[in-house]
Amino acid sequence: MNENKKCPRSMVLTIFERIGGEDAVEALVTLFLTRTFNDPNLRLFFADIGMPEQAEKQKSFLTMALHGSEKSDGEQLRESHARLLPMGMNDHHFDLVIKHLTESMYELNVAPELINEVVTVCESMREYIFDRAPKP
Ligand code: HEM
Repeated sequence: MNENKKCPRSMVLTIFERIGGEDAVEALVTLFLTRTFNDPNLRLFFADIGMPEQAEKQKSFLTMALHGSEKSDGEQLRESHARLLPMGMNDHHFDLVIKHLTESMYELNVAPELINEVVTVCESMREYIFDRAPKP
């Protein structure tokens, strides 16, 4: 490729596409949903949310994690998780969510370097979720 030309955005595959597109992500949502929902340490946070809504939440979670992050997403997550802080959500719960996500990806044979990328995106959201990131 001509060195002066930048690689067009359309040529850069998102993590979502590299994982295998919609079918692979569907499978990942199902696995991740089951693991999170069945974890006795996490169940209380999701108790008042119905299963279909929960599936939607997980999908937007993964869409965010797999497409990469932007600052505005962090602000949105700060808002949507605010009500969970008085319920006792802490870094341990965050680590459990990441663990379930990582294990689900391993189970689906996602490449380790891709798993690392997803975890990095999730980690970049931690300070927003706990309202510790500086406000814009
Ligand atoms: C990397 C970490 C996380 C990401 C990227 C993430 C992402 C999201 C997204 C995109 C939503 C939907 C937001 C909306 O509808 O505006 C959401 C909602 C939610 N998240 Fe998370 N989340 C993370 C960690 C956690 C943790 C650690 C917990 C609790 C243990 C949690 C519990 C919830 C609950 C209960 C909702 C529904 C809130 C409601 O509808 O009132 N999340 N999350």
